[in-house]
Amino acid sequence: MGDFALPEALLVALRDVRSVGVITGAGISAESGIPTYRGKGGIYDDPDEGDRTVEALSAPTLQSDPDRTWRALFQIAGAAVNARPNAGHTAIVEIERKAERFVLLTQNVDGLHRLAGSRNIIDIHGDAFELICMSCGKQNQFNDPRTGATTGQGLDIHRCAAAGRAPRCPCGGVYRPEVVLFGEMLPEDKLRRLYAELLDNPPDLVISVGTSAMFPYIVQPMLVARMAGKLTIEINPEPTEISDFVAFHLKAKAGDALPAIAAALPNRV
Ligand code: APR
Repeated sequence: MGDFALPEALLVALRDVRSVGVITGAGISAESGIPTYRGKGGIYDDPDEGDRTVEALSAPTLQSDPDRTWRALFQIAGAAVNARPNAGHTAIVEIERKAERFVLLTQNVDGLHRLAGSRNIIDIHGDAFELICMSCGKQNQFNDPRTGATTGQGLDIHRCAAAGRAPRCPCGGVYRPEVVLFGEMLPEDKLRRLYAELLDNPPDLVISVGTSAMFPYIVQPMLVARMAGKLTIEINPEPTEISDFVAFHLKAKAGDALPAIAAALPNRV
């Protein structure tokens, strides 16, 4: 912790960095106690749902069997409500503070980046704490004790998770989470920001951390940055689809490598 040694060549390359993009996946929240999807201990290894979890987290299942979709969702949202940002999340806030231009693209729906204090966030898969009724459109949220902002209006996630069924709206309808389920389109406005800030104008440094890099919209910013001669770093204890083409693959935990990168970056503001 804190004494992670970055390669000398990377320390030299970091000196010229003015703008930064960070791309995160479930792995950055693993050290906060939230299960990842894939890899050992991931929810797709879950004994009863296993790889059926993908089916459980899909739009057709939300319509046909919402209680099943919510049981799978509670594995993430239920763990998130007890989770706190870790050193990796905090290091990303420090990187944003130091950079002249910064953007964070996250696939996570656990709200930990917002809680840590990150500002320019593209949460491409949404936020599991935000709800909307599929019948009347009423918006609601799970009370988030982590922020202390328990409006009293919100729903108690533990009670809903214990019931093992989809939260219901006063109108009798079923709430859906404001997240992108399998089979659903990504939100247009967030895609436009991704194109503008990561593809049309790649930052000097793009870091991929804690993601198995399964989706093209996650791989593409790293590819584009690499092709544009920008500095690319992957932080992941395991190899992934992008490990062979990034400039530096740090086989490390997010909580170890990110603070070292944050410390090595020059302060541009
Ligand atoms: N630090 C860094 N990386 C880690 C750590 C850690 N402490 N622990 C695990 N990892 C890595 C794993 O090696 C794995 O490559 O994090 C990655 C997690 O991969 P996934 O579980 O596939 O999560 P993610 O990449 O975010 O999945 C993308 O798929 O199921 C959908 O919508 C879901 O947003 C999710 C998307």
